[in-house]
Amino acid sequence: MLVLIQILVPLVLFNIDVGAMDVTSLPPCNFPAIYNFGDSNSATGSDRYPNAGRLLIEFMADYLRIPYVNAYQNLNTTNFQYGANFASPGASVTPQQYPNSNPFDIGIQVKQFGELKLQSNDVYKQAKQTNTSRLPKPDDFSKALYTLDIGQNDLTLCYIIKLDVRAEIPNIINKFAAAIKVLYQQGARAFWIHNTAPIGCFGFASRLIGELPKTQDQNKCYTFMNEMSNEYNRQLKEKVNKLKVELPEAALTYVDLYTPVHELLTTYTKLGLENPTFDGIHRIQSANQWLANRVVNGSMSDPPIPITHACHKRVGA
Ligand SMILES: *[C@@H]1O[C@H](CO)[C@@H](O)[C@H](O)[C@H]1NC(C)=O
Ligand SMILES: *[C@@H]1O[C@H](CO)[C@@H](O)[C@H](O)[C@H]1NC(C)=O
Ligand SMILES: *[C@@H]1O[C@H](CO)[C@@H](O)[C@H](O)[C@H]1NC(C)=O
Repeated sequence: MLVLIQILVPLVLFNIDVGAMDVTSLPPCNFPAIYNFGDSNSATGSDRYPNAGRLLIEFMADYLRIPYVNAYQNLNTTNFQYGANFASPGASVTPQQYPNSNPFDIGIQVKQFGELKLQSNDVYKQAKQTNTSRLPKPDDFSKALYTLDIGQNDLTLCYIIKLDVRAEIPNIINKFAAAIKVLYQQGARAFWIHNTAPIGCFGFASRLIGELPKTQDQNKCYTFMNEMSNEYNRQLKEKVNKLKVELPEAALTYVDLYTPVHELLTTYTKLGLENPTFDGIHRIQSANQWLANRVVNGSMSDPPIPITHACHKRVGA
């Protein structure tokens, strides 16, 4: 019976168009795996920030009852049964050329996903000779949840190397969309896409502001940088809406992290936190837990679908 349900659920219910229906009346997706693409906000590899404790992606995985968010390293030995995390600290959407920049931009992360998928296909073909249990089943790739949390470094790098941020945004958004399309071609269907943070409220922002307009709002956030994050998010949301038409079988959920992160960074004492970050950029564990609670139930999402149901799409939302 269990096997039957696992087979039937994706065939019958995956990506059903729920229209204006109450999505929680639909069955949960039972994602077999999570594939994550991102930067230090979600990196779980050996280069993860040791001070950070548990990350947002790990609280999200907990909520989905998926046990590992293993980093994509040691392709031959790591357990990827429940997915893989391609996120890497410093990673950006657009490839960076300047010295010491992180080479694992989203295009590379998507290529690594392709390698894992190929390896899984190869190994399952010769399943009689090989222990397959640490690799995802080929059929599971189209049933998994694909989470993306990247773009913050593209904006901060513009500030550091003094590029015109506003002029760069369309290029960043196009590269982001291109990565989603490649994943779709590889069989990905359920996407959970985080927008970017109010960088002007980071403690670190004063070190990025340079010659940029220094006006601060009542929360001491740099207005210009938050305007740029908002502009980036506006264009990202518009692009995701276009992708909903271009990728008819995809369930694309755009998740507004900006709003709860802004609340976190500007009202943390009310929330009972001494400091939401440990370095002016990266959130501490309790901040991530608070954020996860705000995000997983869909109250920050468009369409407003909880993460447990993010395989169901909704047209015109
Ligand atoms: C991983 O396994 C492949 C063959 O399955 C082998 O060619 C390759 O050298 C291995 N890589 C490492 C790092 O062990
Ligand atoms: C297969 O690999 C898994 C995880 O790596 C391990 O727990 C299990 O014992 C292995 N099974 C066999 C038959 O070797
Ligand atoms: C989602 O959770 C947050 C935080 O617990 C809560 O404030 C909000 O009302 C919830 N929204 C929905 C739609 O359940």
